[in-house]
Amino acid sequence: MIAHLRHLTRRLPLRQAKLQQQQLRCASFLIDQPEYSFLKDLGLERDNPGVFAGQWQGRGQSITSYDPGTGQAIANVRQGNVQELHNAVGWTVEAYKQWRQVPAPVRGEIVRQIGDELRKYKEPLGKLVSLEVGKIYSEGQGEVQEFIDICDYAVGLSRIYAGQLINSERAQHTILEAWRPLGLVGVISAYNFPNAVFGWNAAIALTTGNTVLWKGAPSTPLVSVATTKIVAEVLRRNNLPPVVGLCQGGTDVGAALVADKRVNLVSFTGSCQTGRDVGVEVQRRFGKVILELGGNNALIIDESANVKMALDAALFGCIGTSGQRCTTTRRIIVHEKLHDNFVEALTAKYAQLLPRIGHQLEVDTLVGPVHSKQNVDSFKATIEEAQLLGGKVAFGGRVVQRPGHYVEPTIITGLPHDASVVHRETFAPIVYVLKTRSVDEAIAWNNEVEQGLSSAIFTENMQQAFKWIGAQGSDCGIVNINTTTNGAEIGGAFGGEKATGGGRESGSDAWKQYCKRATVTVNHSGELACAQGVVFNVE
Ligand code: UN1
Repeated sequence: MIAHLRHLTRRLPLRQAKLQQQQLRCASFLIDQPEYSFLKDLGLERDNPGVFAGQWQGRGQSITSYDPGTGQAIANVRQGNVQELHNAVGWTVEAYKQWRQVPAPVRGEIVRQIGDELRKYKEPLGKLVSLEVGKIYSEGQGEVQEFIDICDYAVGLSRIYAGQLINSERAQHTILEAWRPLGLVGVISAYNFPNAVFGWNAAIALTTGNTVLWKGAPSTPLVSVATTKIVAEVLRRNNLPPVVGLCQGGTDVGAALVADKRVNLVSFTGSCQTGRDVGVEVQRRFGKVILELGGNNALIIDESANVKMALDAALFGCIGTSGQRCTTTRRIIVHEKLHDNFVEALTAKYAQLLPRIGHQLEVDTLVGPVHSKQNVDSFKATIEEAQLLGGKVAFGGRVVQRPGHYVEPTIITGLPHDASVVHRETFAPIVYVLKTRSVDEAIAWNNEVEQGLSSAIFTENMQQAFKWIGAQGSDCGIVNINTTTNGAEIGGAFGGEKATGGGRESGSDAWKQYCKRATVTVNHSGELACAQGVVFNVE
């Protein structure tokens, strides 16, 4: 970009050229345009430090964040380098020593304040999420809502999370179970949920007494900075040390975070491939890990299904967030009796969406851009491969020719259930519709992929529904009935099995992953006694 401007101004006298270059540079950043003043409301500037550990800094590479809907530059972030990451680990470990002494309900009160601060900034922060990721306005707002919701959840949790009292076989003995914080939790999040995934981790980790060091995706650094500013303001107001830190950076910074023994738990969201390496690295040093990796989520439509509802679920499941949720519906497995009509009706619905493809912040848009050129390239490669394998593009299939990264929502039919593309997760709005003879066959297909995140069945048949949630049913972490594969609420535990990594975040008892368990046997008998009837003493 700068080289391009230099070229434009080359022939002008030096001072004039400099001035013009400066003006062009200003004008070329969205943050300097009046309609993007919401970015300034979030405390962002044209150049932002991307490291926080009590103070803001950033001595690594400066990167520009782009609007995927237009390709225009939004603003810059100066990332951290490996040395800064190490320092940030040091500061957040120091902060832990103080934080672990704070009573849990008081920690909950801090998380409550973070939730309140997020409420104040929900509108501009959600808009930034939309702008930087490419997701539509309501989804950007929804993502921040998810962070607010988990803060509320964590406040309650701070007063009720507890261990148990277990009966001892020895007289006048009691066994207790205590849950203590791990220490420092490292969070590495992905571009598609740059705010909420940090939120789930941070709210629960903080409540249970840990400190948090975050590295957001390199292509959504502004959300990382703006979110951390909101949290940092709460910490400042309460005179707290950096119980939350940030170090934006590339793979070198990520690798340093993963390898650092002082990071007791690494919560990683990203591809199965990288997640496998993260898991092995952390295990090598006996650290703990939460992996939230890829999904290949199926929607099964049984003979008895409420088809109208299933169609709506497919629409949001396949196209919401332009197919870039890890919970996106990637396969629809339809009973053969319904298949042809279903494809026809779904195609008609997709057609209605074509005029609703547009910039993510325009009010009428339902289908925003995909995040980057890489997503467009993998979209094209996948469509080509699907066709070579005998798949038919029943709808879409093309890149939309306009500035930014837009592709048509796409339906592919006629592929075998085990075709290579069907078994692969492509982060784009492509769905494969497969024809099945029975729910049993559909369940087998649901389970035959490597990933095991989310799944759903549409059925009115109680036997099928209960088979689906039983041992012989879906092998995923999320097993829905008559609703979408995506859009989970924070109250349940979020995560999946097999190549999805096995991690659980957010609600239910996922908080236990952020704690270490102490089994405490208390002898209140006044005499020593061994368990299992062992006698071991001398008079
Ligand atoms: C993700 O895509 O990484 O269930 C998270 C959902 C959202 C979270 C998605 N609540 O689709």
